[in-house]
Amino acid sequence: MNDEIDNSRRNFLKLLVAGSALAAAGMSLGVIVQTLSPPPLGISSFPSLLLVDQNGNPIKASSLPLNSPSALQFNYPLQNTPNFLVNIGDENGNPIRIEPVEVLIPATGEKYTSFGGVGKDGSVVSYSAICQHLGCIFPYLRFYPAGVQSINLTGKNYTNVFHCLCHGSTYDPVNGGSVVTGPTVHPLPSLKLVWDQSTDELYVSNMVGPTIYGRTSDLTGEEPIAGNSTSVVNSGNPFQ
Ligand code: FES
Repeated sequence: MNDEIDNSRRNFLKLLVAGSALAAAGMSLGVIVQTLSPPPLGISSFPSLLLVDQNGNPIKASSLPLNSPSALQFNYPLQNTPNFLVNIGDENGNPIRIEPVEVLIPATGEKYTSFGGVGKDGSVVSYSAICQHLGCIFPYLRFYPAGVQSINLTGKNYTNVFHCLCHGSTYDPVNGGSVVTGPTVHPLPSLKLVWDQSTDELYVSNMVGPTIYGRTSDLTGEEPIAGNSTSVVNSGNPFQ
């Protein structure tokens, strides 16, 4: 990331390669880990975490309201990096299937492929909830659901966008979190959700795009999420 797409995964792969070489030389990874003390903060790979409510019960994909203006957020991959969880529909209340798309990073000209939607309609997606311009968060950065709330930008009404009231950046969650209006020159990072069809439960397992605003490219220096789940909280309706 940091405009080096998915760089932390590359670092993880480097670790894997180094580990393989050492294993071939007769050393075990267990020995290596014991010599690394204390472990650095941050992550070396993206964990797979179950999305749960504040009581620890799994979030069911079918329970997520379509076109809700209320902000559902969870932290990932670090303890203080919030992300939106949204179920996107059209203005008639029909789910929109979100496809993976190629997303441009205007700052660098690089491109990457976003993650598509999940759930029975493919309409549930997740994006970083930290504005990529200067780091504003909810309620300044907020979702404008179709049929519920629109935002007028230079004479045109937009819906199904994330818009930041700090300086006016706008992002398109139907198209990978791409930039609609500046001043941001970085899209919102896209998170990989995994839907367990048999249980209707949701997992988050990866992230792609530019570096989360204000973080290091390898996501070191902050506490990762502890355990195997992350809590989804409802931060409320910013339009009320
Ligand atoms: S911080 Fe969001 S537009 Fe500036």
